[in-house]
Formats: sequence, structure tokens, C-alpha cells
Amino acid sequence: MTNSKRDGFGSRFGVLVAVAGSAIGLGNLWRFPYLVGNNGGAAFIVVYITVAIVLCLPIMISEFIIGRRTQSNAIGAIKKLAPKSGWLSIGVISVATAFMISCFYSVVGGWTLEYIVKSFSSGFLVNDSGALTKTFSNFTTSPVRPAVMMLIYLAINAFIVSAGIKNGIEKYAKILMPALFVLIIILAIRSLTLPGAQAGLSFLFNPDFSKLTAGSVLAALGQAFFSLSVGMGCIITYGSYVDKKENLMNISLTTAIADTTFAILAGLAIIPAVFAFGISPGEGPGLVFITLPQIFAQMPFGHVISFAFFVILLVAAITSSISLLEVVVAYFVEELKMSRRVATLITFSVIGLFGVLCSLSLGELKEMTLFGKNMFDLFDYTTSNIMLPVGGLLIVLFVGWKIRREDVRDELFNGGVIPFKRTLFNWIMIGIKFLAPIAIAFILLNGIGLIKLF
Ligand code: PFF
Repeated sequence: MTNSKRDGFGSRFGVLVAVAGSAIGLGNLWRFPYLVGNNGGAAFIVVYITVAIVLCLPIMISEFIIGRRTQSNAIGAIKKLAPKSGWLSIGVISVATAFMISCFYSVVGGWTLEYIVKSFSSGFLVNDSGALTKTFSNFTTSPVRPAVMMLIYLAINAFIVSAGIKNGIEKYAKILMPALFVLIIILAIRSLTLPGAQAGLSFLFNPDFSKLTAGSVLAALGQAFFSLSVGMGCIITYGSYVDKKENLMNISLTTAIADTTFAILAGLAIIPAVFAFGISPGEGPGLVFITLPQIFAQMPFGHVISFAFFVILLVAAITSSISLLEVVVAYFVEELKMSRRVATLITFSVIGLFGVLCSLSLGELKEMTLFGKNMFDLFDYTTSNIMLPVGGLLIVLFVGWKIRREDVRDELFNGGVIPFKRTLFNWIMIGIKFLAPIAIAFILLNGIGLIKLF
């Protein structure tokens, strides 16, 4: 099954930064802090971490197994393992989800570009939430500028992806990811040393479980999937570029730890500052675009801090959205036999078109709704809360019940090169076969209201 001409990651560090780069993104910096704010703080974090370890880790390992074993894109991989079967739906859902997430993700990516530019413009950083809300809503609902920013953002992504894995994705992740960690640590220290930051810390670390609802548990599940980039073939695709020598269990664990650490660091950078300036943490999606600038306005060197923050957001977003694009591009290249350049150009054009519609759905096209949601919200909600959990569920069922146990073992322990640990293997198999599928099914059905458990 090896394909000597196929592109792939060139080093272990390269694999780790690329996969962590996919995981760490707007999900950590933009979504996680506001979900924590909206869902009662520490209690949400406890559920989130539990879900990430118990449910998402088995899915990530399963995706790596599928990808590396077949060395194929998400659809091609399933075709190789289970030709002409219903399991192919895993590949199809993956490519569709990657496409849909890319559309709204690129819109937010465009916003970060705009806010980098804005950081130094006079009159932007004011200590007035009304004015900042207006700046945000005027910008996001206007027809042209956010769409143009989104297209510029997408073009940067396409440029990286068209260069391939080793010379594109890996090369940029190696520079951008370490820089990202340094920047977020500096920002967290700044936030934690503000007078009054203590209240934010206790909000983040003292759980109040009475604040949890079925909706917030589903939100934690969706967020963990989204943040760890699982349930949609992204790890299948990246896994297909991982060398046969690498230890898949270690890569999965390291990614999960890096992503969760980064989410907590993002919480530490944002929530204590929110409390220190007496602002409500439950601001929702506007948290980083409205609340944070208000905080920056009250800090010395606010412009510089604002600039640094939005650069972090941009970098984190790019290393994630290239992995989304790669799912679609790899499919076009391998299944439809296109050159990488043409595949990237087509992907750019189609996502660009739907991205423009997503952007317009916040302004000019806001009347165009389905199930009461505009296109942006619909894509965001359905992918995180339905498609990722369903995709994840099918992936663990596939690896747990369809692939032979010996093959799973062979891939996890590199054909015996890694010393076999029976207890560890048994636990991983229990997670993949039973724990993850049962729990995901219950949370999913409960969250969408089909059963009533809690
Ligand atoms: N994990 C990314 C984030 O947290 O922003 C988003 C994402 C990337 C989701 C890739 C899914 C994916 F396949």
C-alpha cells in the first residue's frame, strides 16, 4: 500500500506542529472562551476535558489508524478498507464537513485580518462597549469589506496548501506554532497580572455544576470535536502523511494535551482580563472582537497588545484552516486525479463563493434562514453539533467493528516495533468499540432532544 512518490511530513516535529496546528485555532481562542463564559465557567471546562480525553482521543487514534494504514485521502481511505459499502459515508461526510467549516471559518479568519489592520487605526480602541459593538456589527454586516478580507484570508491558505505537505503545511507550521505558544503565554501573563484578575481565575477554576444543562453538555462535546479537529477526516488525511515509524498513540496524546493546554491558556489570557475590567464573560461570539478591544483600550500599549492578539488569532486560524482545505484538496488530487494546483484553485473558488454567502448572511442576506438560522450560524451549528459527532461516531464504529483487531494492533504498535502493551491496547479498544460510540450517541440524541436523560 505504500506509494513512494506521495508527499508527506518530513520529521516528527513537523507532524506534531502540523497536527497541533490543525487542532489549535479559532476554536481555542474565539469559541472556547465564550462557551466557557456562556456555560458557567469551570463546570464546562471539566466536562470539556473529560469528553476530550474519553471520547475524542479514541476517535483521533482511529482516524490516524485509517489514514496511515491506507495512505489516502478521507474518501479513498474508506474505499480501500471497505470497498463499495455504506461506510463510504464516512468519507463523504468528512469532505462535506471540511467544506462547510471552511466557509464560515474563513469568514472569521477575514475578521482577524481586518482587526489586525484596525488595531493601529485611531478611534478604534475606545473604552465604550456600545461603540465597539457598533464597529463590529457595522463591519460584519457590510456587504463588501468582510467578503474581501475573507477572500484574502482564503488566498493565503490556498498559497500554503498548493505548496504541498512538506514544503507548505509543515514548513509554515514549524515557524508559526512555536511563535503562537510564546505569544499566548505573554498575553496570559499580562492578563493575570492585572488588578482584579483573581475573580476571573475563580470563574475558570471553581466549578458550579448546577449551571450545566443538556445543551451545555452537547456544546462541550461539539466544542471538543471541533477543537481537536476530529470527526471529519482531517486527522485521516494528515495521518496519511505520517511516516510508518511514528508512534500514533504518542502523537494523539501530545496533540490532545497541546490543544487543551492552549485552550486553557486562551481562557487565562481572556477571562481574567474580562473580570478585571468589570465586563460580563457571557458576551458570546463577540467576546474577542468587542470585549477584548475594550480591555485593550484600557491598557498601556493597547494598540500593540491588540495587534499581537489578532496576529495570534490569525496564525492559529491559518494553521487550522489549511488542514480543512487539505481534506478537500487531497480528495480532488487523489480521487479525481487533478494536479495540486488545479485542485487548490477549485477548492479556493468554491469555498470562496460559499464563504461570501456566509459573510452576506450576517448582513444583506440575513432574512434568508433555515430552521431560524442564517447560513453562517447554520453551518457552524450543524457541523459542530451534528456532523462532527455523527462522523466521529461512524469512525469509531468503523475501526472498532469493521477493521480487524490484528490490523488495528499492527498499526498502533508499528507491526511490533513498539513493544506491545496488552492492558493499554485493551483500554484503547474498549474506548473505540464501546465507550466512545455509546456516549456520543447518548449525548447527541439528548442534545437534539430525541431522548431525555438530563
Ligand atoms: N480545530 C480547529 C479549531 O479549533 O479552530 C478547527 C478545525 C480544524 C475543525 C480542522 C475541524 C478540522 F478538521
